[in-house]
Amino acid sequence: DGSESSAPQQAQAVAVHPAVEPLSYLLGTWRGQGEGGFPTINSFKYGEQLNFSHPGNKPVIAYSQKTWKLNSGEPMHAESGYWRPKPDGTIEVVIAQSTGLVEVQDGSNSILFIEILFIEVFCRRMAISNMNRYYAMAESLSLKIKGTYDAEEKVVKLHSELVGNASKVREITRVFKLVNEELVYVVEMATSLNSLQPHLKASLTKL
Ligand code: HEM
Repeated sequence: DGSESSAPQQAQAVAVHPAVEPLSYLLGTWRGQGEGGFPTINSFKYGEQLNFSHPGNKPVIAYSQKTWKLNSGEPMHAESGYWRPKPDGTIEVVIAQSTGLVEVQDGSNSILFIEILFIEVFCRRMAISNMNRYYAMAESLSLKIKGTYDAEEKVVKLHSELVGNASKVREITRVFKLVNEELVYVVEMATSLNSLQPHLKASLTKL
């Protein structure tokens, strides 16, 4: 009951920043299911939870996402970042994707696990003692995204301005739309081999 626990509650009580107001319908936690695919991979289904929060007083929405395998609950992709809506209807979004150290510590992400194994073998062969740089390359992909939002239509359209630290991905678009109280999105990507086309589609309801 000390001041430590009351501070976050006070922060929540702060009014929504005017820049965030048009997107305030996003704030909260959303959960649902999605489907993924691409010409080069097998299609798959996943569970997903998204959280949009607004600590108040700054024109920023904090975003975090996690996904899991539907049958086992095993973690899949996760990412987090910040959405910065501007009064002119443009929006800047930064996202750090992480197939993530946390999932590796769980021993549950086989894709990253194989990548990590590969890096360890590679570094040992090349007598590289500091593997951290190589781990970082495998684990993260930073995206800078510019887009627009339409507060009336409740649509946010994002297009990558910069895709960094990615071996295959060249371009990413994301469209989020509120349809009958559901948050529906499509993520498309272009890789070095394939033109821009859907990788993910999902539909989420607010908890
Ligand atoms: C495969 C990128 C989100 C699950 C891939 C590939 C790329 C990629 C480049 C390999 C495609 C190829 O080999 O041609 C991205 C990007 C994402 C994203 C940029 C976000 C913007 C997700 C999410 C999930 C996911 C959210 C899970 C819910 C998978 C799976 C594969 C895959 C299962 C196939 C396995 C594999 O070959 O690695 N993704 N991905 N991805 N992605 Fe994603």
